[in-house]
Amino acid sequence: MPFPTPDDTAETYWNGFYRSLDRSVDSPPGPNALLVEEVGPLSPGTALDLGCGFGGDAIWLATQGWRVTAVDVSGAALERAGEYAARADVAERIDWQRHDLTATFPAGTHDLVCAQFLHSPMERPGQRDAILRRALDAVAPGGSLLVTGHTGIPDSMKDTPFDVHLPTTTELRAALRPDPAVWSTVTERAATREATGPDGRSFTHRDMMLRLVRTQAYA
Ligand SMILES: C[S@@+](CC[C@H](N)C(=O)[O-])C[C@H]1O[C@@H](n2cnc3c(N)ncnc32)[C@H](O)[C@@H]1O
Repeated sequence: MPFPTPDDTAETYWNGFYRSLDRSVDSPPGPNALLVEEVGPLSPGTALDLGCGFGGDAIWLATQGWRVTAVDVSGAALERAGEYAARADVAERIDWQRHDLTATFPAGTHDLVCAQFLHSPMERPGQRDAILRRALDAVAPGGSLLVTGHTGIPDSMKDTPFDVHLPTTTELRAALRPDPAVWSTVTERAATREATGPDGRSFTHRDMMLRLVRTQAYA
């Protein structure tokens, strides 16, 4: 990943990142395994995907019967995600919206609000927590907030621009402060997965997953 320049905003940084990716690899990314594992057993409803990138998760959700609002700061990513959704024949089930989530947030409430690896080298301290606290308000009664994220950068990727804090589930729950009268934690765990870097070396990703369910509406 490129390092941000002093003039970059989140939008210019991520547009530059997505436009730099090899267009010859022109197939939609698959969904994140943790999302599939956690959401697969749920009954479809409405979903909001925060930081959707090329739309792998949003498209998978739509193919499972969810009606999806998918958000990203990068218009370049959303344009490509829209093409992939059309090819998967789920375009009418996904509303793509461009937001810088540090500034604006989509309207409405949803049965599932999810954020998979919503990490950014442009992130300022506290911004991700604030987005995810706002996300709690977007969960409908009986619905879920699902967050997956990295908890560490593998040694073989130490030259990435990510010098932001990558919280554990305990740290994230402390930042979100979910009211125990309203929220119950149904899944909270660490996960590791093996991957192969661009240099062919294998490394281990250390990830986390937290799912909170809104057991009742706020008064
Ligand atoms: C590490 S990527 C993860 C993409 C996708 N969720 C996945 O799991 O492959 C982070 C995504 O968040 C988006 N993003 C970063 N900061 C954002 C912000 N402030 N508002 C909206 N989207 C943002 C980026 O454009 C990027 O698509």
